[in-house]
Amino acid sequence: MSVAVVDFGGQYAHLLAQQIRKLGVHSVIVNPQLSTDQAKQFKGLILSGGPHSVYSDELIHNKEIFNIGIPILGICYGHQLLCKHFGATVISGHSIEYGPAKLLNTRGVLFNALEIPQVWMSHSDTVIDLPPCLQITANTDDCAIAAIEHTQLPIYGVQFHPEVKHTLCGRELLMNFLKLCDCSFDWDIQDYLQTLIENLRNKYINNSVFMLLSGGVDSTVAFTVLNQALGANRVLGLHIDNGFMRYNESRQVAEAFQKLAISVVDASEDFYTALDGITDPQQKRIIIGNLFLDIQQREIEKLGLGSEWLLGQGTIYPDTIESGGTQNSKIIKTHHNRVDRIQELISQGRVVEPLVDLYKDEVRELGELLGLPHDLVWRHPFPGPGLAIRTLCNIGTCSTDLAPLQAAVNLLISDYPVNAIILPIKSVGIQGDTRSFAHPVLLVNSAEASIDWYTLEKVSTLITNQFNQVNRVLFQLASKAEWRKPCLITATLTKSRLRELQRIDHIVTEFLKHNQLYEKVWQCPVVLIPCAPVENSESIVLRPVESTEAMTANFSKLPQELLTNLANNLLDSTIASILYDITNKPPGTIEWE
Ligand code: XMP
Repeated sequence: MSVAVVDFGGQYAHLLAQQIRKLGVHSVIVNPQLSTDQAKQFKGLILSGGPHSVYSDELIHNKEIFNIGIPILGICYGHQLLCKHFGATVISGHSIEYGPAKLLNTRGVLFNALEIPQVWMSHSDTVIDLPPCLQITANTDDCAIAAIEHTQLPIYGVQFHPEVKHTLCGRELLMNFLKLCDCSFDWDIQDYLQTLIENLRNKYINNSVFMLLSGGVDSTVAFTVLNQALGANRVLGLHIDNGFMRYNESRQVAEAFQKLAISVVDASEDFYTALDGITDPQQKRIIIGNLFLDIQQREIEKLGLGSEWLLGQGTIYPDTIESGGTQNSKIIKTHHNRVDRIQELISQGRVVEPLVDLYKDEVRELGELLGLPHDLVWRHPFPGPGLAIRTLCNIGTCSTDLAPLQAAVNLLISDYPVNAIILPIKSVGIQGDTRSFAHPVLLVNSAEASIDWYTLEKVSTLITNQFNQVNRVLFQLASKAEWRKPCLITATLTKSRLRELQRIDHIVTEFLKHNQLYEKVWQCPVVLIPCAPVENSESIVLRPVESTEAMTANFSKLPQELLTNLANNLLDSTIASILYDITNKPPGTIEWE
């Protein structure tokens, strides 16, 4: 018997289900309006976080679940919801917290035998008082009611996210909850693979699958699973070179798959033409997603494939959740495999996505089980729209008056040996469970001595927790000039900018490999920004992060001396400054667009 995650639309709902499975318990995602009879079939319920507010737009849910008597754990929004149900007060903006916090004064069965030094917070609503039937079981410096339990019922709540890797011992806390649920611990990934293959075989008896291959681990694993399920003659692969791949990457893909049924099409000119003059990030993503489909359609027509052919995609779960993919979630960004036309095909049952319930680390586990080469399985994730979303574009002006924000940031960090400069560009981030599009703040060391990463992380968190208009903080590694007044240039997706980024990205990848850092970081986007300390120049941002599923991440604290050497070598006639992204996720996403 399983444990159900009640999905209130939080970005981590699925991650919770995955974590529970990793602990050996079968788990499923259910809708908040599930019937009481349905709820009774589960050994326990976990109420997920979500982008809504319990006092303004509370989601319709079955309140009877609180009377059944099965164990319930509320997380973030789920915690606030159950506290409110029992009579607590929840208010907005009382203590906004994103990122790490220290958990204090833990007690109660959920924390049984646990020391939890750090938890991960992402909330702006807070529970501020409790009815007598609920008692506090932990707090943080900024949040007096960080965890609760019911005095008579097996009902628990935590304001933080135990399911993300950055909550230390979160796994053990979930385990403590599962033990209270009296469930059987008998689920594993090998069984999952067998069931997946059987289900695909049974479901698509009369179909064949045509699939786009990026060369990344997701599409390769999906392609391999489909080959095993349907047989090689019913699965065709297509690699489209969109011109935004990494240095030499399309050639490597063609070589890697030469023994299987795949074809490679160079469509870079189509993409460059379609994106000519476009600067808006979401528009870029949509154009790229649609063009992938046009070209794929063109190829299907060329091959004369009939209506029994379905479209295969290597979509994994995080791709769907950030595109607003579950009923109650909000759009963070539209992934290229979730544009409208794909959504339409999905609703017609014409898309096969074998990995859509999985996270990257589960996909890698499947890759290993399927016997794929280590280097391929552990290759850094690379987004479908590729370097196009790492080449920031700009109309050349910023209409916002940044002076008041600049003054407030200066005041906030006046005790630290750094100067702050608000950059007049914007990047995507995630604050709470909602997408944000906000300014980065650049920090420049104002002292002689170097500043360690932990101090910089503190300043970064301080700034993003305080100002919603900022979702990212950078640190200067090298610069040809002082950042007095940031200069913007008008910039679009030109071949020369892409070539420059490809060249630098390749140097950075080689640097990571050479210094045995490649497998230590989850991925390392290299981003070209049309903003520099001098006129007519650009800057580069290095964004190495550590993560296990890309839903949360922390910036990698790589050796500063090595980075400074690398950065000094990257400065050239067009690149005037090299910056390092010191933002965790949340509030900054891994990619910039
Ligand atoms: P963010 O930027 O949301 O990224 O923190 C999470 C993970 O998703 C990857 N990503 C994409 N992958 N198509 C993809 O296949 C996309 O459009 C896309 N956008 C982001 C990103 O590289 C990271 O691993």
